[in-house]
Amino acid sequence: MLIDNHNRVISYLRLSVTDNCNMRCQYCMPAEGIAFSHQSDLMSWDEMFLLASTFIELGIKKIRITGGEPFVRKGLMEFLHRLAAVEGLEDISITTNATLIGDHIDALKALGILNINVSMDSLDKARFNFITRRDYYDVVYNNVQQLLQKGFNVKINCVVMNGINTDDIIPFINFAHEHNTNVRFLEEMPFNGHSKSFERLEWNFLKIMDHIQQQYPQTHRMQDAAGSTSENYTIQNRKGSFGIIPSFSRTFCGTCNRIRVSAKGELQTCLYTNESVSFKVLLQQNPHPDLIKPLILKAIKSRFKDGFEAEEKNEFKKSMSLIGG
Ligand code: GTP
Ligand code: 5AD
Ligand code: SF4
Repeated sequence: MLIDNHNRVISYLRLSVTDNCNMRCQYCMPAEGIAFSHQSDLMSWDEMFLLASTFIELGIKKIRITGGEPFVRKGLMEFLHRLAAVEGLEDISITTNATLIGDHIDALKALGILNINVSMDSLDKARFNFITRRDYYDVVYNNVQQLLQKGFNVKINCVVMNGINTDDIIPFINFAHEHNTNVRFLEEMPFNGHSKSFERLEWNFLKIMDHIQQQYPQTHRMQDAAGSTSENYTIQNRKGSFGIIPSFSRTFCGTCNRIRVSAKGELQTCLYTNESVSFKVLLQQNPHPDLIKPLILKAIKSRFKDGFEAEEKNEFKKSMSLIGG
């Protein structure tokens, strides 16, 4: 079992398989994109598998595949196939923009990979395309419908942006009811590759909640899963549920159970730090779990107390596409 220096059990790895993405969301990167990594700088699938297996041997029970957009990278399904067979791993989840998942839905189901978080920031086509700077609304909407129909556990992630998509909050709440699913509203974070200024967070979790309760006063807090980033609620006499993720206010750090590895093989012990431990050279030159484990254990024993401590000395230049969310 992995226990950090603040006595938190670390059982959840967020593994980014690529920093590349086929969309250009405004809250994530500038219109021209960012300097995406060259293929040669990324971990190979074999290296990633060895690293993931080592984490599992140490006590990781859940891996969430992130990006960039994971399905942009060729070979993802084969990798998932191998990962699904590793003993000790209880949950593989994916965060995706759902543009490219359509061809893989049945294969994912066959692998038992049913927890899919979909980034979708508007139900209005023009607004969706404005936010993502691409024209994928229909594809995403249809893929979400398919996932829901085929019994996947879908959570919709909507980043709330002042002056852009706050009119989507209530329609998304209604979508959750109509499709008996979960929609979560994310506080915007300043990880946009310097594409927009970030002075102050106008729509924090309190304001989002207040906005929802003006329309639906009868909300009931649900029991959240251990280590959850979201506070989840049901609404009286309505199906589905909604959640709010205080990703900027960082109210959940005390129960943080997660670490992240970038596609380049860098271990980051907090979303808000710029510090990392790189496994790339070791994985290329001497790929043995016994050499990797001490580095993981050392990093786990020197984690920040919370995202505020991690953020000190930081300039927010990064794009979420590089961090993996
Ligand atoms: P599950 O609990 O596995 O569903 O994961 P999640 O909801 O945290 O994952 P997802 O990839 O859907 O991310 C949702 C939002 O939470 C994104 O905005 C993430 O950046 C944010 N988030 C995820 N992990 C952390 C974290 O460790 N710290 C902070 N501050 N935000 C996080
Ligand atoms: N602020 C908040 N959430 C973000 N995401 C990407 N960039 C940001 C940001 N700047 C979300 C994505 C995805 C999740 C992993 O993080 O929409 O759903
Ligand atoms: Fe964990 Fe850092 Fe996220 Fe807090 S901000 S939950 S410490 S990764």
